[in-house]
Amino acid sequence: MENMHLTREEREEAFRWAEDSSWVEREDYREDPDYMDCVKDIIDSPVFQSMDQFMQHGDTTCKAHCIKVSYMGYCICRKFSWEYAEVARAGLLHDLFLYDWHTHAKETGEHFHGFTHPRTALDNAVKYYELTEKEKDMILRHMWPLTPIPPKSREGMVIIYSDKFCGLVETVARIKRWILFGFGKKSAA
Ligand SMILES: [Fe+2]
Ligand SMILES: [Fe+2]
Repeated sequence: MENMHLTREEREEAFRWAEDSSWVEREDYREDPDYMDCVKDIIDSPVFQSMDQFMQHGDTTCKAHCIKVSYMGYCICRKFSWEYAEVARAGLLHDLFLYDWHTHAKETGEHFHGFTHPRTALDNAVKYYELTEKEKDMILRHMWPLTPIPPKSREGMVIIYSDKFCGLVETVARIKRWILFGFGKKSAA
């Protein structure tokens, strides 16, 4: 993959908005018409919106996590003049497994969510949306290197980077809030 170099300021900005979901809750991304042109059919659909009921990392929902990964991947690809539309779309759908993974193993006996959810997300995604082959590959391979086959495209690697970055920041943010304010509270307010 070509060198994906982000400046220190860009990384700090990415860290701030990965940590704080308020811009997602305010739907600030709707103010970016180019982004919305890429994703409107997905983001406004009931299936995508239903991810709001499932928690992903810390106190970030699957819906908020997917929007963060999608928008971060879109911004990175625009910066490097790479294909950004497919990253924006695959980012939204990469975790479309549509269940609560915290209780999934207990309810179903299926203990390998980390390995199996990319296939489940892809199966759901093709059921509800029109996807390119590249988008399908990005969704299916987003857990590399936990799953053995890497994505075929540099844009797929951008999804992997954005997903790991957001997942880590979301998890650590939850622990920080827990230490500072106590369990179950998002802030001091
Ligand atoms: Fe995932
Ligand atoms: Fe994810």
